[in-house]
Amino acid sequence: MTDARVTVECLRPTLRDAHGRVIRDLRISITDRCNFRCAYCMPETGVTWKAASELLAIDEILALARVFVSLGIERIRLTGGEALLRDGVVALTAQLSKLPGVKDLALTTNGYRLEGYAAALAEAGLNRITISLDSLKDDTFYQMTRVRGLDRALRAIELARRYKLAPARVNCVLIRGVNDDEIEAFADFARAWDVSVRFIEYMPLDGPGEWRREMVVPGREAYARVQARYPLAPVAGQSPSETARRYRFADGAPGEIGIIAPVTEPFCGACSRIRLTADGKLRTCLFSIVEYDLRDALRAGASPGELADRITAAVAKKEAGHRINEPDFIPPSRTMSCIGG
Ligand code: 5AD
Ligand code: SF4
Repeated sequence: MTDARVTVECLRPTLRDAHGRVIRDLRISITDRCNFRCAYCMPETGVTWKAASELLAIDEILALARVFVSLGIERIRLTGGEALLRDGVVALTAQLSKLPGVKDLALTTNGYRLEGYAAALAEAGLNRITISLDSLKDDTFYQMTRVRGLDRALRAIELARRYKLAPARVNCVLIRGVNDDEIEAFADFARAWDVSVRFIEYMPLDGPGEWRREMVVPGREAYARVQARYPLAPVAGQSPSETARRYRFADGAPGEIGIIAPVTEPFCGACSRIRLTADGKLRTCLFSIVEYDLRDALRAGASPGELADRITAAVAKKEAGHRINEPDFIPPSRTMSCIGG
């Protein structure tokens, strides 16, 4: 290594795994609770939430975030469960947005409670928002989320735009036979509402364990169906570590289409993400079957340096990739609502 390279790396701390991937993104689940019951994410009944004492307190999240940022994390996304159910989310946002080194602060929400939060979150320094919206039809929305919330999700998209939590993104998990008849309607929606609609392949992270390969709508199918209606062109300058391949409309219309195809076209080779669960465990992959405790270490008085060592050692062991397509695939024991999208 040349001296110049050493100097650059000293200036910009870098978390690196054994496969040479640099980790710049942290997703923090701030609660396991949710007011929706999306079938692809959690069971309809019998969900038990963690006790408050098990969850990281807002100060603890902040303390850990400081350590992550000192190690080179630059982008943070707050998720849940439903992030807006967590008391203190605005205060946390305000503190995180002030951390030197945080270049991008985003939040994923189902939008149901955004009305009461959008202005305060924007004021607190949130940069961007992603809203989950799986159907534009009232009944299908209800079937998928078990809540009549379509109007509020649409309102949330308006609010995201009004408060410049932009570019507003919409996540749409496609499930065969449930909402795959809406791909073209979502393309119309992206143009009319000037939003980025991201079609996501259904992953085996559901509570009931009902995932079947036949239920996955391949990203390339979603792409081909949009392309047949509106020619698409790749967005210039995309980073390989982004989950979505992004396209604009070739006719210059507003809006964007993203394709997220973790099942049929895994993008693990360029993954720059790690996750902190609501109960303070570090996960180096959405599909990890191991977790690394940070909460108890923090509560036992570990110093920032000791926590940094733990994080560095865990990241070094980051999985090469998920194994969804391997015959011996073991789904993680926790659902998406616990892990944090
Ligand atoms: N497969 C794909 N996407 C999922 N999400 C939740 N569960 C799954 C799953 N099993 C998505 C939600 C949300 C994001 C955080 O993750 O739609 O937008
Ligand atoms: Fe809640 Fe999001 Fe899971 Fe739906 S996908 S149940 S909105 S956490």
